[in-house]
Amino acid sequence: MEKKLFIVGCGPGSPDYLTPVALKAIQSASVILGVKKLLDMFPDVNAQRIPLGRNIPEAVDKISIYIETHVVAVLVSGDPGLFSLARLVIDKYGRDSCEIIPGISSVQMAFARLGLTWHDARLISAHKQVPEDDPVALYREFRKLAIFAGSAQTGKWLASSFVNFPHKPDVVVCENLTLQDEKITYLRIGELESFELEPSSIIIVIDPEMLR
Ligand SMILES: C[S@@+](CC[C@H](N)C(=O)[O-])C[C@H]1O[C@@H](n2cnc3c(N)ncnc32)[C@H](O)[C@@H]1O
Repeated sequence: MEKKLFIVGCGPGSPDYLTPVALKAIQSASVILGVKKLLDMFPDVNAQRIPLGRNIPEAVDKISIYIETHVVAVLVSGDPGLFSLARLVIDKYGRDSCEIIPGISSVQMAFARLGLTWHDARLISAHKQVPEDDPVALYREFRKLAIFAGSAQTGKWLASSFVNFPHKPDVVVCENLTLQDEKITYLRIGELESFELEPSSIIIVIDPEMLR
């Protein structure tokens, strides 16, 4: 069966980090769906644009309106395999109907900026809300955490979790990676309590030895 539903990883934001194959898939679509920020990355693509809101199940349902009659591209940030709506889309429409186009993840970008590898990092999503994970237990095990931070509470959650932990990790906040206002800030973990985090941020919590 010919695949008509692309799930396209659009990278961390700058067109420099968009792959040619992702662009080709998007250009081949007659309908593109995604949050406004992602749709705006493709001003020259001649397709019907469907902006998706915060209601993810509703967004996934919306695809069914177009799937029978159009080539559809669902745009996600970074890579579809990491904390994106790809799983819900695949669950609903089936693996055989979907073609996943990988993208450069914000977490790859963050570790690249720090000059570090990340095969040994533990990834945690706090994009929508603070997760139930215990960051101290995870830090003890992995020594290298990458937190997809989106909620304002993420910094407070991390700072308060480590208050009584004796050997404090280092923290690097990577905001708006690859964009013009990219910012990389080295902090003590307690400083996260009052740090005003951009919605697009990766927080790296790391053993100070690994940053030497
Ligand atoms: C829904 S998740 C999607 C992650 C995405 N699939 C990936 O691979 O990067 C959204 C989170 O990705 C992170 N993110 C996306 N773009 C970013 C960027 N340019 N700079 C920093 N973090 C980013 C933020 O943590 C944001 O809360």
